[in-house]
Order: sequence, then structure tokens, then C-alpha cells
Amino acid sequence: MENLTVIVLAAGGGTRMKSKTMKVLHPVAGRSMIGHVLRAVQAVEPERIVAVIGHQRDQVGPHITSLVPDAVLAVQETQDGTGHAVRIALEAAGQTGPIGGTVIVSAGDTPLLRGESLREFARDHAQSGRAVSILTGRVAKPHGYGRIVRGPDGAVEAIVEEKDATPEQRKIDEINSGILAFDAAFLASALPRLSNDNANGEYYLTDTVKIALADGLAVGAHVVEDVSQTEGANDRAQLAELGRQMNARIVTAWMKEGVTVMDPATTWIEDDVVIERDVTILPNTQLIGATVIREDAVVGPDTTLKDCEVGVGARVIRTHAELAVVGDHANVGPYSYLRPGTRLGIGGKIGGFVETKNAVIGDGAKVPHLSYVGDATIGEGTNIGAGTIFANYDGVAKHHTVVGKHARTGSNNTFVAPLTIGDGAATGGGAVVREDVPPGALVVPGATQRVIEDWVVNRRAGTTQAEAARAAGQVAGSLVDDDQDS
Ligand code: UD1
Ligand code: MG
Repeated sequence: MENLTVIVLAAGGGTRMKSKTMKVLHPVAGRSMIGHVLRAVQAVEPERIVAVIGHQRDQVGPHITSLVPDAVLAVQETQDGTGHAVRIALEAAGQTGPIGGTVIVSAGDTPLLRGESLREFARDHAQSGRAVSILTGRVAKPHGYGRIVRGPDGAVEAIVEEKDATPEQRKIDEINSGILAFDAAFLASALPRLSNDNANGEYYLTDTVKIALADGLAVGAHVVEDVSQTEGANDRAQLAELGRQMNARIVTAWMKEGVTVMDPATTWIEDDVVIERDVTILPNTQLIGATVIREDAVVGPDTTLKDCEVGVGARVIRTHAELAVVGDHANVGPYSYLRPGTRLGIGGKIGGFVETKNAVIGDGAKVPHLSYVGDATIGEGTNIGAGTIFANYDGVAKHHTVVGKHARTGSNNTFVAPLTIGDGAATGGGAVVREDVPPGALVVPGATQRVIEDWVVNRRAGTTQAEAARAAGQVAGSLVDDDQDS
């Protein structure tokens, strides 16, 4: 919008969060609270965005700049109130050019605010010719908010803060969302006229309402239907509640796009996740970061995927995965742990109790059971036997293992890296493979099996083990008398 400046207030301490992380930096659905606010603000395409920072500004300032590189940062050294904060913002913005038109002020901790609501509010204000417009809502629990006091004709007369309100005024359920729009010239003239003679000893931005009315200017409210949009988080309980609401919004949006979500209440989807049509998400699933789920895939139950890509028609059950790519029609889980750098090919399998890291597993290749695959490349169509360990770490450095195409390796193998096993090779059960294996060769594990007959009966006499051996009639050599047991 032309001639629009938006000021985002984020200087407050947020002490009730009891956190070393500044309040507005706490994430909701994978994005900081102020990140959500800035995104809504950007949707209105203002000429200028000014952020007021104070507490922990070395955390907050760079975060804002990373999201909105051309935002003007205004530093408020002491938090003397919202009116004071806006005054500092206008001073800083004024250095970038004259401020005219409309100024919108918003808090930094209302992550549910939608860009379209802000746009509607800005448009309404601009068309109304008012000096001040207040975005208000009717809430069940108005405690803590500034109340909108209206006259007998319904006209807005004042915003009264909780601490300054009479018992009668405290009953008012229409509240100031904290988002206000101003005629820029009026705002500049009103700010120096604010007083801090109130219960908090602060310069209240909300007192501009009284000043406008005294100046004979118009003031009005724009009531927002969905009041959750104006909710702020002051403590962790409210943060969780906002997170729940944001998640419900995201999950509902995906269902409307053709995604089946069996249990929306236990499905957590972050803001940047992308899900294609006809995907099914089963209960207790978290999709985090830049995760992408392709058409017809089934994810869950009990699955966490962070920055992962799951291919068309793939199946991922009871899995924890991070920075992993699962190919089309591949199968993962249950109880699989895919660490960064895992790439499973088309139709491949990573099965139960398998951990992978930096592992490229080819199309149709399988690691079905109880294995660790670290720093490895496995060719297409190869099957890795149950209980195989890719021993990638020699105690000092990590090494790579290559297993070729269509190999069949036995159960309970250890591949000691660096190592190359050729295409179509085979290994016997229990092999510890230290030397490279040529294509098509068979590795016969170490020593031939030695069997010492009657060892248990002779050495473990009197045990249930020996009893069982004797009962099975397996005592072959030096037969032992019953008496000898004692
Ligand atoms: C404010 C409003 C109240 C409204 C409520 C909505 C005032 C006087 N009151 O009250 O009418 O219902 O928001 O949530 O405006 N901030 C600064 N510098 C300061 C003080 C505050 O940057 O000196 C920032 C805070 O970081 C926060 C925002 O301004 O993002 C609002 O401040 P807060 O102290 O939470 O005001 P409330 O008491 O909630
Ligand atoms: Mg507040």
C-alpha cells in the first residue's frame, strides 16, 4: 500500500516467559512469533517497516533483519510505554524520508494475525478519514487488555487500560487488540502530548484516542470477527495455546487441499511444510521445517520428519528422520532412525530398528532389519542382511563403504570401512569384511565352526542348561554318571 508505514513493537522484556530467549523469538509452528507478524505486515506491502527493539536487541535485531532486510530498526533504551516506543520509531523512520499517509502500529507477539485482516483494516482506515482506527475484538476474558469505552451513540470515546479502569469499565468485553492505524500527521502531533500520569507511569499509545477527540478528529473501531488473530502470548501456557491454534489452522488448510489427516489434534505441521494431494497422515505425526510429502504417500503413525522429502506413494511408519530423502514408493519403518544425508531410492526399504546416516541406498535396495548404515553407498537391488553394521568409525576418522548393485550380504555382517564390495557379490552370515570384495565373489566367514561335544554337560553340570542337554539325549562322548553331578 502506498504511503503506509508499519511499526512493530518488540522492545518489551517478556519477563513472564521466564526465558533466556526473547519473547517474540519463541517459535509457533516453526516460525518466530515476530516472524509471523512480519509476514502478515509484508502482505500489506507497506512502504516502510519499522521495528522497535530494546530488550535483548542483539538477538532480536539480527533476526528481524534476516527476515526483512530493509526494515528500519529503532532502539528504545528504556521501555517507557507503547507511546514512547512509537515516538522513537517515527524518529528513526523520519531519517529515511518524510512520513505521511497512514501509520499502523502492531505488537510483535500476535502470531495469528492474518495479512488479509491487516490489509482490510488498513483499507478501512484509509477510506474512513479517521485520525485513529483501533482494531478491536469481543473476547470472553478481557482481563489484561485495554477496554474500548463507547458513548451512548456507540462512538469510541477512549481506551482504558486494565489498571486504570473502573470496575464498570472492566466489564467491557470489547478490547484493544494493540493494532492501531493513524493519520501520520496527527500521530506526530499527538505523541509529544502524551502524559505518563497513569497507573503504570508509562506513555500509553492508547491515549492518542482522547487527544484526537479533543482535537475534533474522528476515531473509530474496526471489529475483527476472529479474535484469536489478535491474541498475544505472555507466558508459556499462552504460547502453547497459540501454537495449538496455529497448528489447527495449518492442518485444516492442508485438509482443504486434499490431504487426509486422521487425527488433527495429534498432527503437528509447521508453516513451511509442503504436502501434495492424497497424502495420508496418521496420528502422532510431526512434520517440521522444510519437509515435503509427495502425492499418495502415507506418513505415520508416531513419526517425526524434519527437513525431509518423502516420495510419491512412499510409506513411512513410526520413524524419526532428519534431512533425509525417501524415494517414490519406498518403505521406511517401523522404528527406523534416518539421520542427515540418508537417501533411499525408488522402491527401496529401510526396515525395523535400522539407523542410517550419510547413506545413499539405491533403487530397490533393502536394509530390512536391525542394522546401522553409516557413510555408505549401496547399489540398486542390493539386499543387506539382518543385523549388519557398517563400521564407519575407526576411533579417529570416518570412512566410506561402497556396496555394489544386486549384492546379497549375509546376516550379522560387519563391514569395516573403508571398503568396497563389488556388484553381485555375496557374503556369508557373521562375516567381518575388512578387505575389498570383487564383483560376484563370495566371502566365507573366518574360522570354520568348531564343535566341542558335551561341553555343557561336563563344564556346567547341575545347571538347567545341562539338564536340557542331557534330556535331549545329546550327550555323545564321555558319558557322565548321574552321581557325578553332586
Ligand atoms: C497493550 C495496550 C492495550 C492492549 C494490549 C493488547 C497500551 C498502553 N496498551 O497493553 O490497550 O489491549 O496491548 O495486547 O498500548 N512495547 C515496547 N516498548 C514499551 C512498551 C511496550 O516496545 O515501552 C511493546 C511490547 O514489547 C509489546 C507491545 O509493545 O510487543 C505491547 O506492550 P505490552 O506491555 O504488552 O502492552 P499491554 O499491557 O499488553
Ligand atoms: Mg501485552
